Amino acid sequence: MQECDTESAIDASRRDRELLGDFNLSFVYGEVNSFSSMRIILERVAAIRSIGPSSLFLDLGAGVGKAMLAVALLSPCTKILGIEYLETLVCKGNKMIEFSTREFPDLKLEERLQLIQGDFLAYPWEKEADFVFANSTW
Ligand SMILES: C[S@@+](CC[C@H](N)C(=O)[O-])C[C@H]1O[C@@H](n2cnc3c(N)ncnc32)[C@H](O)[C@@H]1O
Repeated sequence: MQECDTESAIDASRRDRELLGDFNLSFVYGEVNSFSSMRIILERVAAIRSIGPSSLFLDLGAGVGKAMLAVALLSPCTKILGIEYLETLVCKGNKMIEFSTREFPDLKLEERLQLIQGDFLAYPWEKEADFVFANSTW
């Protein structure tokens, strides 16, 4: 999925922010740099509270959804929701989810992963989510 590589996502984020005229540093793109770092995070979280199939895992500011995909591959969680403000990132991420679903049909990724466009500040995550992930990389 070349169009979801890190450089493409950084470019897409920059273009979306230019179009919006929004230079708020909160929207600067970065992403989890490897699945092994997500594995360490998930292991540390699991030591406190286990992530079960029915847990809701929420990524606030999901980018193209790489952290979400890592959670789907590394845990039994079936409800993984990502909220991303920038539309092009959401579009690219949903293509990556479709592609990964075709590549790994047994994992049922399209049923488990949902990446939506929106402002996470308007989402009642504190009431709904079991696990909340927020990665700021700038
Ligand atoms: C550093 S990236 C992290 C991407 C992903 N979570 C990861 O770790 O790979 C942070 C993302 O949060 C998004 N973001 C920042 N503020 C947001 C908001 N209020 N609502 C939705 N998305 C937001 C940015 O556009 C950016 O794509």
